[in-house]
Amino acid sequence: MKKNVVLFNKIPADQQARLEKEFNLTVFDKSPDANQADFMHALSQADGMIGSNMATRIDDAFLSKTPKLKAAATISVGFDNYDLAALKKHGVRLMNTPTVLTEATADLIFTLLMATARRTVELSNLIHEGKWTKSITPNYYGTDVFGKTIGILGMGRIARAIAKRAHCGFNMDVLYYNRSTHLDIEQELSAKRLPLDDLLKQADFVVVILPLTKETERLITKEKLALMKPSAILINGARGRIIDQAALVEALQNNVIRAAGLDVYEVEPLPMNSPLLELDNVLLSPHVGSATAETRYAMAKCAVDNIIAALKEEKPTQNWVNPDVG
Ligand code: DGY
Repeated sequence: MKKNVVLFNKIPADQQARLEKEFNLTVFDKSPDANQADFMHALSQADGMIGSNMATRIDDAFLSKTPKLKAAATISVGFDNYDLAALKKHGVRLMNTPTVLTEATADLIFTLLMATARRTVELSNLIHEGKWTKSITPNYYGTDVFGKTIGILGMGRIARAIAKRAHCGFNMDVLYYNRSTHLDIEQELSAKRLPLDDLLKQADFVVVILPLTKETERLITKEKLALMKPSAILINGARGRIIDQAALVEALQNNVIRAAGLDVYEVEPLPMNSPLLELDNVLLSPHVGSATAETRYAMAKCAVDNIIAALKEEKPTQNWVNPDVG
């Protein structure tokens, strides 16, 4: 008998067809959450669920309502909305899509870095608004990227891809803050591992690309921002809650740092009354690190591979976040 699977994202038709062939598939494509009765009803019968991060936390209370659930495939690398202890208690395997989005996400983070440094969007808007009537004056100048120092918080796959772009493409010195040393990156890119405060004091560009955990939540506080150079630029491509957003707004308002480029926020979508929207020295993108056609396709395919592998009782050896669940 076919197993029941709930899909809660729009995915390419050929990938949905693979799920339909293997499972009794129930589809929700409008960001459902735990308050939606038909969604929770479908999940109460489901052996598997597949979709990208949703606002709902998958915790003990949620999993108590999904007694048959054995596998969850998230169409994302991040899995911070899943409570690993609760998954273990309820015997639910979790799989993510860690490898296929590395380069696209590193590209987006570098885009934010370059565009913030060179004020690309601000200058483009100036032309659109008909304000390019004479040569640009120094108050519109950007800042150099080539040859500067980048400080990366994290040294996972995406961080490494950023470090390579920075060092090999832009001759940048690479500093990183991470729990462990990565000798290969130190040898290949002359990267230097530093304590957080030292990195913040030395870097011209600080890039946050760490997973959100209890340890990294609000890692960047008002005090940490004050350590950065007034000329420095902060880029966040990880999760909004790693930075104290109110403290960042204050730092940008008071020129404690020069600018920020953000792809992620404490609350998403960013509310229209956010003070971030009032600032000229911040560049905002709507959580699109992996949002290219090729990469989003590869993520969907990877997640479909994962859920098929898990529910056919083959042990998913790849992308399995919690192998402590047997
Ligand atoms: C990821 O893959 O974790 C992206 O941030 C989308 O949630």
